[in-house]
Amino acid sequence: MIEPPSMLERPQSLTLRLPHRGATRRLGRALGTVVRAGDLLLLRGDLGAGKTFLTRALARGLGVPASVRVTSPTFELVHELPGRVPLIHVDLYRLDDPGELVELGLRERIGADAVVVVEWGERMVDELGRDHLGIELGLDPSDPGGSVRVCSLHSHGPVSADLLSRLLARYFPGPQGLTPKPRADRDS
Ligand SMILES: Nc1ncnc2c1ncn2[C@@H]1O[C@H](COP(=O)(O)OP(=O)(O)OP(=O)(O)O)[C@@H](O)[C@H]1O
Ligand SMILES: [Mg+2]
Repeated sequence: MIEPPSMLERPQSLTLRLPHRGATRRLGRALGTVVRAGDLLLLRGDLGAGKTFLTRALARGLGVPASVRVTSPTFELVHELPGRVPLIHVDLYRLDDPGELVELGLRERIGADAVVVVEWGERMVDELGRDHLGIELGLDPSDPGGSVRVCSLHSHGPVSADLLSRLLARYFPGPQGLTPKPRADRDS
């Protein structure tokens, strides 16, 4: 009889406390290392929560060279960056009409040859793709310094569940997948 996958092998959600920017960088880098062409990540969180910051670290983990600046696609809406596989970084904050997504040419790229990371994409989830890794970043209201973030990751389908499993293995590389990696959080 084939055993169903355990929760550890098939996590559906994960919540992390990111006490400083280095911790967010570490998460982003780990994500960038494990993402594959076809993966879709939708980032949620208020203005200044750290969506672009996380994406920048993801880009580095994906192999986008340090000489390539990773900036917010606030006005262009879409940036394509060269990595191990192309990274398409989107910011839909200024997009009101889901119909405009067609003009951005995103549909052809999602689930195809690139990794697609969308800030403010949750409200257009039906148009973008149901199987996605949702990543929510929020400030910790009990932190007076304003540097602590709480990050929740949720998979929504088999492709993103696989991605979350790979992230877990990378981020917590202990034998049970539970031992945090003892290393500095200062990679940039
Ligand atoms: N733990 C942390 N993780 C991420 N960013 C942090 C952290 N602590 C402080 N910051 C700061 O928070 C800011 C996050 O800005 P960022 O542009 O990434 O936000 P955003 O969510 O993309 O906002 P927007 O919705 O405007 O696009 C940066 O200035 C970053 O230095
Ligand atoms: Mg941003």
